[in-house]
Amino acid sequence: MRIQDKVVVITGGASGLGLATANYLLTEKGARIAIFDQDVEAGERAVKALGGERAMFVATDVADEASVHAATEAVMVRFGAIHVCINGAAIASGFKVLDRDGNAAPLAKFAKTTAVNLNGVFNVMSKCAAKMAKNEAEGGEERGVVINISSGAAYEGQIGQSAYGATKAGVIGMNIPAARELASVGVRVNAIAPGLFLTAMVAALDEKVLAALKDAMEAPKRLGDPREFAHTCAYIIENAYVNGETIRLDGAARLRAR
Ligand SMILES: NC(=O)c1ccc[n+]([C@@H]2O[C@H](COP(=O)([O-])OP(=O)(O)OC[C@H]3O[C@@H](n4cnc5c(N)ncnc54)[C@H](O)[C@@H]3O)[C@@H](O)[C@H]2O)c1
Repeated sequence: MRIQDKVVVITGGASGLGLATANYLLTEKGARIAIFDQDVEAGERAVKALGGERAMFVATDVADEASVHAATEAVMVRFGAIHVCINGAAIASGFKVLDRDGNAAPLAKFAKTTAVNLNGVFNVMSKCAAKMAKNEAEGGEERGVVINISSGAAYEGQIGQSAYGATKAGVIGMNIPAARELASVGVRVNAIAPGLFLTAMVAALDEKVLAALKDAMEAPKRLGDPREFAHTCAYIIENAYVNGETIRLDGAARLRAR
């Protein structure tokens, strides 16, 4: 799918990889961007920086059905269509199965993680797909593209990532059934499983911690640049034959257990 003038919904787009992707797709590829994020201050700041003409922000909780319904309707009013949906909103939520005293983790902690990281992805993907299905098919074959952000933790989660890793593996599990089903309306579904990227949160880490992280990388021996992530999103959007796939984007790094 050509990206120029297409409407791209990015959840979690107020920060980190989502924001870098918004910036890249708008400035380098001419997309129109709708950021869905629960952080109002950061979302408004992001749209101001992107230039309000081709970007909008909708305060959204991806875990809430009514909120996502309202957000997709707001995009239809402003831009008239949704062509691409990039699901980046997530919470890191590190906690162990058993605490120091051997007590089981409260189920509510696990459920909160799935509510955002897994239910939230399905919530936004499904509502965006319903709008995509109404688009005219580009090249007679494509109406929309979904990119769900997984994580290396889906494969080799570290200690404390049982919940996070499970949600990120769930995202990968959605790929094939959703891609098969949505083929009938011309919508592709793919995932990206990033390794460690240099987002603001990671850059703020202690120098020693950062050096240790870099040392755990294979090649190149550094953290990922968010522009490399954004570039992969553009590749997926532009290449109509990439479907039902998960791209591991991690420079061959495999994190240890702790
Ligand atoms: N940064 C990395 O190294 C890395 C590695 C692997 C996977 N990932 C994945 O990439 C994605 C982006 O990560 P990031 O590092 O840019 O994170 P980030 O924390 O910078 O951005 C996440 C955004 O999601 C938003 N958000 C959280 N809960 C929400 C909700 N319920 N509704 C709407 N918005 C919500 C936050 O406000 C924030 O703006 C996530 O899915 C993350 O799991 C990141």
